[in-house]
Amino acid sequence: PRQLQWQRLFQTSVTQSRIPDFGFAFDIDGVLVRSSTPIQGAHKALSYLQKENIPFVLLTNGGGKTEEERVAYLQEKLDLPLDAGMIVQSHSPFADMKEYHDKTVLVVGGDYDQCQRVAQKYGFKNVVTPGDIYCAYPTIWPFGKVFDDMYKTFAKPLPKPIIPESPEDSLKIDAMFVYNDPRDWALDSTIMLDILLSQQGILGTLSPKNGDLGLPNHGYQQNGQPPLYYSNPDLWWAASYHLNRLGQGGFQHAFEGLWKGVTGGAELAKTIIGKPSQATYEFSENRLRQYRKRLWGNIGLNDPLRRVYMVGDNPESDIRGANNYDSPHGSRWTSILVKTGVYRPGKEPSCKPDIILENVQEAVQWAVEDAK
Ligand code: G3P
Ligand code: MG
Repeated sequence: PRQLQWQRLFQTSVTQSRIPDFGFAFDIDGVLVRSSTPIQGAHKALSYLQKENIPFVLLTNGGGKTEEERVAYLQEKLDLPLDAGMIVQSHSPFADMKEYHDKTVLVVGGDYDQCQRVAQKYGFKNVVTPGDIYCAYPTIWPFGKVFDDMYKTFAKPLPKPIIPESPEDSLKIDAMFVYNDPRDWALDSTIMLDILLSQQGILGTLSPKNGDLGLPNHGYQQNGQPPLYYSNPDLWWAASYHLNRLGQGGFQHAFEGLWKGVTGGAELAKTIIGKPSQATYEFSENRLRQYRKRLWGNIGLNDPLRRVYMVGDNPESDIRGANNYDSPHGSRWTSILVKTGVYRPGKEPSCKPDIILENVQEAVQWAVEDAK
């Protein structure tokens, strides 16, 4: 019967007469793919929507590559024409932070210098990685030797040296961004901690309120240090392994523990974007609206995007984000949880979706009917 329903849907057209007033946001990992393996029905579901010119965006807490590189990879895996205007990755919204484009920023996470290249493509002109700092000053982390060969393959000269005795000439970080899952949690944590305990982000210094690093510092004040931006709170995600794997949220929890130990329990000021944040959902709706305009020309005011169906596998990011999203354009988001990723069928999801369905193919079928 499901197959028959799908065939009937596949043959009928829902958009012959009018511009669809609905669209989709699809999570990637656990909905469309499991790491590099496409999930059954993903190709069919998305190609149906493309045939019908029903707009969709791919909304992922993943990242670590440029949007162009990620869609090129997915295009090949899903055998579908995709372009960079159809995807929002965890760090995509960082591109809009133009106030830091001419400053010096630390970018953490991802393979080699890939995230550095992503940040540079967004317009950030002075991007430093922990690997760059380590290669210039190996004693900054005494246990890094085992990774020397890897770091040397991509490290670049620093824009400025670390000269604690003359802070004004020393490398100063103005903001820290975690673009993707850190690989070397030890070095990344050490560098981030140094910067958070420093004078105004000047590496090699200690802010006067932080006294001697030797003791847990109960008087720690985080003022004047550069802001810390994370791009993805996911504690777990659905990779190829049959059990869920730690995501960037795992690193955040680990770093939080380190911070509490070093400062004697001080709160860590940080900003976390990515799903389920309002900011990421707003950024995604704008990208969906732009794409809808590309599909249907200059849509008039009487052709609003009224409904968006969010299809996800993680109750904490996909479902909670869609349920809580307050659209500035007045669209209503329906959350659809599928059983092909993080969520384990049979248990109550930690955040209740509008509906639980088997997979993305069933989700599209149900949503197109619901939208009629
Ligand atoms: O790092 C990727 C993981 O956090 C989840 O990605 O596509 O399921 O939002 P996604
Ligand atoms: Mg997912």
